[in-house]
Amino acid sequence: MHKDLSRILLSEQELDETITRIAAELDRDYAGEEHRLVLVCILKGSVVFMGELMKKITIPVEIDFMRVSSYGNGTETTGHINIILDLLRKDLDKSDILIVEDIIDSGRTLAHLSQYLTLKGARSVRTCTLLDKPSRREVDFTADYVGKVIPDEFVVGYGLDYDEKYRALPYVGILKPEIYSN
Ligand code: IMP
Ligand code: MG
Repeated sequence: MHKDLSRILLSEQELDETITRIAAELDRDYAGEEHRLVLVCILKGSVVFMGELMKKITIPVEIDFMRVSSYGNGTETTGHINIILDLLRKDLDKSDILIVEDIIDSGRTLAHLSQYLTLKGARSVRTCTLLDKPSRREVDFTADYVGKVIPDEFVVGYGLDYDEKYRALPYVGILKPEIYSN
Protein backbone atom coordinates (compact mmCIF):
# COMPACT_ATOMS: atom_id res chain seq x y z
CA MET A 1 0.00 0.00 0.00
CA HIS A 2 1.17 3.57 -0.74
CA LYS A 3 2.64 5.22 2.37
CA ASP A 4 0.33 8.28 2.15
CA LEU A 5 -2.78 6.13 2.59
CA SER A 6 -4.41 5.18 5.88
CA ARG A 7 -6.09 2.15 4.29
CA ILE A 8 -7.30 0.57 1.07
CA LEU A 9 -11.02 1.12 0.61
CA LEU A 10 -11.54 -0.89 -2.60
CA SER A 11 -9.11 -3.56 -3.73
CA GLU A 12 -8.34 -4.39 -7.35
CA GLN A 13 -10.61 -7.40 -7.09
CA GLU A 14 -13.52 -5.45 -5.60
CA LEU A 15 -13.18 -2.82 -8.33
CA ASP A 16 -13.13 -5.50 -11.01
CA GLU A 17 -16.29 -7.14 -9.62
CA THR A 18 -18.04 -3.78 -9.29
CA ILE A 19 -17.28 -2.76 -12.87
CA THR A 20 -18.24 -6.19 -14.21
CA ARG A 21 -21.64 -5.76 -12.53
CA ILE A 22 -22.19 -2.27 -14.00
CA ALA A 23 -21.19 -3.47 -17.48
CA ALA A 24 -23.78 -6.27 -17.26
CA GLU A 25 -26.46 -3.73 -16.26
CA LEU A 26 -25.55 -1.57 -19.26
CA ASP A 27 -25.53 -4.58 -21.63
CA ARG A 28 -29.06 -5.31 -20.43
CA ASP A 29 -30.42 -1.74 -20.43
CA TYR A 30 -28.96 -0.60 -23.78
CA ALA A 31 -29.45 -3.80 -25.78
CA GLY A 32 -31.12 -3.52 -29.18
CA GLU A 33 -30.93 -1.54 -32.42
CA GLU A 34 -32.92 1.35 -30.97
CA HIS A 35 -30.02 2.35 -28.69
CA ARG A 36 -26.73 3.98 -29.57
CA LEU A 37 -24.69 4.02 -26.40
CA VAL A 38 -22.08 6.76 -26.10
CA LEU A 39 -19.89 6.71 -22.99
CA VAL A 40 -18.73 10.22 -22.09
CA CYS A 41 -15.65 10.13 -19.87
CA ILE A 42 -15.25 13.11 -17.56
CA LEU A 43 -11.52 13.80 -17.61
CA LYS A 44 -9.28 13.17 -15.93
CA GLY A 45 -10.53 11.22 -12.91
CA SER A 46 -12.78 8.80 -14.82
CA VAL A 47 -10.19 7.59 -17.29
CA VAL A 48 -9.29 4.33 -15.52
CA PHE A 49 -12.91 3.44 -14.71
CA MET A 50 -14.00 4.24 -18.27
CA GLY A 51 -11.21 2.11 -19.78
CA GLU A 52 -12.18 -0.89 -17.69
CA LEU A 53 -15.91 -0.38 -18.19
CA MET A 54 -15.75 -0.17 -21.98
CA LYS A 55 -13.76 -3.42 -22.17
CA LYS A 56 -16.45 -5.25 -20.21
CA ILE A 57 -19.45 -3.95 -22.18
CA THR A 58 -20.30 -6.39 -24.98
CA ILE A 59 -22.90 -4.37 -26.94
CA PRO A 60 -21.66 -1.76 -29.49
CA VAL A 61 -20.38 1.33 -27.72
CA GLU A 62 -18.86 4.64 -28.74
CA ILE A 63 -16.72 6.88 -26.55
CA ASP A 64 -16.24 10.59 -26.08
CA PHE A 65 -14.61 12.94 -23.61
CA MET A 66 -15.41 16.09 -21.68
CA ARG A 67 -13.40 18.02 -19.17
CA VAL A 68 -14.72 20.32 -16.49
CA SER A 69 -13.05 22.39 -13.86
CA SER A 70 -14.57 23.29 -10.55
CA TYR A 71 -12.17 25.74 -9.00
CA GLY A 72 -11.25 24.47 -5.59
CA ASN A 73 -8.44 24.13 -3.13
CA GLY A 74 -7.65 20.45 -3.44
CA THR A 75 -10.27 18.65 -1.38
CA GLU A 76 -13.21 21.07 -1.68
CA THR A 77 -14.98 22.36 -4.78
CA THR A 78 -16.52 25.81 -5.06
CA GLY A 79 -19.57 24.59 -6.90
CA HIS A 80 -18.92 26.66 -10.01
CA ILE A 81 -18.48 24.33 -12.98
CA ASN A 82 -16.68 25.33 -16.17
CA ILE A 83 -16.70 23.15 -19.27
CA ILE A 84 -13.14 23.30 -20.60
CA LEU A 85 -13.49 20.51 -23.18
CA ASP A 86 -16.92 20.22 -24.73
CA LEU A 87 -18.57 17.36 -26.55
CA LEU A 88 -18.49 17.87 -30.32
CA ARG A 89 -20.98 15.46 -31.90
CA LYS A 90 -23.21 16.35 -34.81
CA ASP A 91 -25.63 13.50 -34.14
CA LEU A 92 -26.47 14.13 -30.49
CA ASP A 93 -30.17 13.65 -31.25
CA LYS A 94 -29.38 10.01 -32.10
CA SER A 95 -27.03 9.45 -29.15
CA ASP A 96 -27.84 7.80 -25.83
CA ILE A 97 -25.32 9.48 -23.58
CA LEU A 98 -23.98 7.82 -20.46
CA ILE A 99 -21.84 10.25 -18.48
CA VAL A 100 -19.05 8.29 -16.78
CA GLU A 101 -17.78 9.91 -13.57
CA ASP A 102 -15.26 8.80 -10.95
CA ILE A 103 -17.04 10.04 -7.83
CA ILE A 104 -20.08 12.08 -6.80
CA ASP A 105 -19.54 14.44 -3.91
CA SER A 106 -21.73 17.59 -3.82
CA GLY A 107 -23.57 16.36 -6.92
CA ARG A 108 -23.02 19.65 -8.74
CA THR A 109 -20.85 18.32 -11.58
CA LEU A 110 -23.25 15.60 -12.71
CA ALA A 111 -26.38 17.66 -12.09
CA HIS A 112 -24.93 20.40 -14.30
CA LEU A 113 -23.59 18.11 -17.05
CA SER A 114 -26.80 16.05 -17.34
CA GLN A 115 -28.84 19.22 -17.73
CA TYR A 116 -26.30 20.66 -20.19
CA LEU A 117 -26.27 17.60 -22.48
CA THR A 118 -30.04 17.31 -22.36
CA LEU A 119 -30.41 20.98 -23.37
CA LYS A 120 -27.81 20.43 -26.11
CA GLY A 121 -30.20 17.88 -27.64
CA ALA A 122 -29.02 14.40 -26.64
CA ARG A 123 -31.67 11.70 -27.25
CA SER A 124 -31.15 10.42 -23.71
CA VAL A 125 -28.79 11.22 -20.85
CA ARG A 126 -27.98 8.92 -17.96
CA THR A 127 -25.16 8.96 -15.43
CA CYS A 128 -22.80 6.36 -14.07
CA THR A 129 -20.36 6.79 -11.19
CA LEU A 130 -17.79 4.43 -9.76
CA LEU A 131 -18.02 5.95 -6.26
CA ASP A 132 -20.72 7.88 -4.45
CA LYS A 133 -20.49 9.91 -1.24
CA PRO A 134 -24.22 10.64 -0.62
CA SER A 135 -23.56 12.23 2.79
CA ARG A 136 -21.80 15.14 1.01
CA ARG A 137 -24.67 16.11 -1.33
CA GLU A 138 -25.42 19.82 -1.76
CA VAL A 139 -27.89 19.39 -4.63
CA ASP A 140 -30.47 16.64 -5.03
CA PHE A 141 -28.88 14.23 -7.47
CA THR A 142 -28.96 10.45 -7.90
CA ALA A 143 -26.90 8.60 -10.54
CA ASP A 144 -28.53 5.88 -12.64
CA TYR A 145 -25.62 3.45 -12.12
CA VAL A 146 -23.52 3.45 -8.95
CA GLY A 147 -20.46 1.30 -8.27
CA LYS A 148 -19.93 1.68 -4.53
CA VAL A 149 -21.38 3.99 -1.89
CA ILE A 150 -18.51 5.15 0.32
CA PRO A 151 -18.21 7.13 3.58
CA ASP A 152 -17.17 10.78 3.76
CA GLU A 153 -13.42 10.28 3.34
CA PHE A 154 -11.07 11.78 0.77
CA VAL A 155 -10.05 8.94 -1.53
CA VAL A 156 -7.41 8.60 -4.25
CA GLY A 157 -6.28 6.04 -6.79
CA TYR A 158 -7.88 4.38 -9.81
CA GLY A 159 -7.93 7.75 -11.59
CA LEU A 160 -8.74 9.89 -8.55
CA ASP A 161 -6.15 12.42 -7.48
CA TYR A 162 -5.08 14.80 -4.79
CA ASP A 163 -3.12 17.64 -6.39
CA GLU A 164 -2.66 15.48 -9.57
CA LYS A 165 -0.99 12.68 -7.59
CA TYR A 166 -2.00 9.04 -6.93
CA ARG A 167 -4.11 8.61 -10.12
CA ALA A 168 -2.15 5.56 -11.26
CA LEU A 169 -2.69 3.47 -8.11
CA PRO A 170 -4.58 0.30 -9.13
CA TYR A 171 -6.90 0.45 -6.05
CA VAL A 172 -8.88 3.13 -4.19
CA GLY A 173 -7.44 4.20 -0.84
CA ILE A 174 -8.16 6.72 1.89
CA LEU A 175 -5.62 9.53 1.93
CA LYS A 176 -4.10 10.29 5.33
CA PRO A 177 -5.60 13.63 6.50
CA GLU A 178 -2.12 14.99 7.34
CA ILE A 179 -1.31 14.92 3.59
CA TYR A 180 -3.92 17.56 2.77
CA SER A 181 -4.43 19.39 6.07
CA ASN A 182 -1.13 21.27 6.11
P1 IMP B 1 -19.10 17.16 -7.18
O1 IMP B 1 -19.44 18.12 -8.27
O2 IMP B 1 -18.97 17.88 -5.86
O3 IMP B 1 -20.01 15.97 -7.10
O4 IMP B 1 -17.61 16.76 -7.45
C1 IMP B 1 -17.19 15.65 -8.03
C2 IMP B 1 -15.71 15.82 -8.32
O5 IMP B 1 -14.97 16.19 -7.14
C3 IMP B 1 -15.13 14.51 -8.75
O6 IMP B 1 -15.18 14.37 -10.15
C4 IMP B 1 -13.71 14.59 -8.25
O7 IMP B 1 -12.89 15.24 -9.21
C5 IMP B 1 -13.77 15.46 -7.05
N1 IMP B 1 -13.79 14.66 -5.81
C6 IMP B 1 -14.79 14.56 -4.91
N2 IMP B 1 -14.47 13.75 -3.90
C7 IMP B 1 -13.23 13.30 -4.16
C8 IMP B 1 -12.35 12.39 -3.46
O8 IMP B 1 -12.63 11.83 -2.39
N3 IMP B 1 -11.15 12.18 -4.04
C9 IMP B 1 -10.77 12.76 -5.23
N4 IMP B 1 -11.56 13.61 -5.91
C10 IMP B 1 -12.78 13.87 -5.37
MG1 MG C 1 -13.42 14.51 -11.35
